[in-house]
Amino acid sequence: MKDYNYFLDIALNAAKEASLVISSEIEKELKVDYKGVTDLVTNADLKAEEIIMKKIISNFPDHRIITEESGEKVSDSEHVWIIDPIDGTTNLVHGYPFYAVSIALYLGGKALVAVVYHIYLNDIYSAINGGGAFCNGKPIFVSKTNNLSNSLLATGFPYDHGNIWAHNINLFKIFTDLTQGVRRAGSASLDLCHVARGWLDGYWEYALNSWDIAAGALIVKEAGGKVTNCNGSEFSVLENEILSSNGYIHNKMIEHLNH
Ligand code: IPD
Ligand code: CA
Ligand code: CA
Repeated sequence: MKDYNYFLDIALNAAKEASLVISSEIEKELKVDYKGVTDLVTNADLKAEEIIMKKIISNFPDHRIITEESGEKVSDSEHVWIIDPIDGTTNLVHGYPFYAVSIALYLGGKALVAVVYHIYLNDIYSAINGGGAFCNGKPIFVSKTNNLSNSLLATGFPYDHGNIWAHNINLFKIFTDLTQGVRRAGSASLDLCHVARGWLDGYWEYALNSWDIAAGALIVKEAGGKVTNCNGSEFSVLENEILSSNGYIHNKMIEHLNH
């Protein structure tokens, strides 16, 4: 556990430094570029990613790094840092306060440590494999809701409005009918943390990237929740979908996701 704590400290420091840069860029002026018609990137994303990468490279020069904005730092190392400098960039651009820094470290497909920093609320979520999940240092746990009709769920939609998007719009309708509601807040990492702390009972999404979910997936598991693919098979951070829940409603969700 000693090494994991060391990794976590580096991730926490990197996330805090990134949050200072993001806040200062917000104070100045956000410059928005377009990676796709609705897929935005700002100077805050780029600067935050640079700070996080510097921190990781200076501490672990041989580790592999996968990031959203600059791609991959290739290495033979089995340690892989997976980084989303800002998860929820569209929200940031609009001043809608659901955006976060997401950093995780994996070893051979297994998550070791995770940090998600919800800057606006100053909530720092963290987890170490086998060590529980925390928000600002306090343990967090998933909810106990055991049926869909009393559940609050969340999902998200890809920028590309193709078949998966249309399929998920249909699922949105189905789950809205079966539950107390389905939220679409626009930050996958925070959706996962909100399952972890029991604000949401379940969250699913398709067409994601590893950096959207690498950290949040461990935080949900360590908070006592369940994380799989949408068909119920074992979760892999390299596949592009996730189903997470408090565990009690997991099978019910799988049934409807795969009807
Ligand atoms: C996006 C958010 C959103 C999800 C999208 C992601 P970004 O990440 O996580 O909730 O629905 O699929 O791409 O682009 O803001 O880092
Ligand atoms: Ca993202
Ligand atoms: Ca991002």
